Amino acid sequence: MKKKIVSLFVLSIFALTLQAYDKKDRIQDMQAMEAAMTQIQKGILYNNNKIVLQGVANLKQTAGKIEMTQKSEMDYSPKFAKKQADSIMKFADEIKENTEAGHKHSAAASYTKILNKCISCHNKIRKWD
Ligand code: HEC
Repeated sequence: MKKKIVSLFVLSIFALTLQAYDKKDRIQDMQAMEAAMTQIQKGILYNNNKIVLQGVANLKQTAGKIEMTQKSEMDYSPKFAKKQADSIMKFADEIKENTEAGHKHSAAASYTKILNKCISCHNKIRKWD
């Protein structure tokens, strides 16, 4: 019984969080992703794997939330957003693998692939200034 109540509680919190995702949350998440990308680049340039991996973890933590966008809100569909988010996750793993293998050029190439995903979506937003 106690377990049921706890899981119901967790579910409702989850539902609330989903519903409450708005423009403010998105801007906050976008800024967090920008910070994570900067961190990754810094780690690559300072030859510091720990910073790179921390940046990758931070990026992945936030990138999953991109897909919460409502269809009516934006000029792209949630399906498109999910696809972008999935690619960002995949390329983030690539950065991790390349970094651990000591392949900095490949890590930088994966970094650019992510940046291009960011740009692809931003290009779709009308009135972007
Ligand atoms: C699926 C779409 C999508 C993807 C992918 C995406 N963004 Fe965004 N981004 C947006 C939208 C929409 C806005 C505008 C936010 C708003 O005004 O609601 C934005 C705005 C921003 C901003 C400006 C935030 C501000 O303070 O106004 C930054 C920085 C940013 N994104 C970084 C990134 C980075 C870094 C990535 C890739 C890792 C990324 N974005 C990927 C949709 C996306």
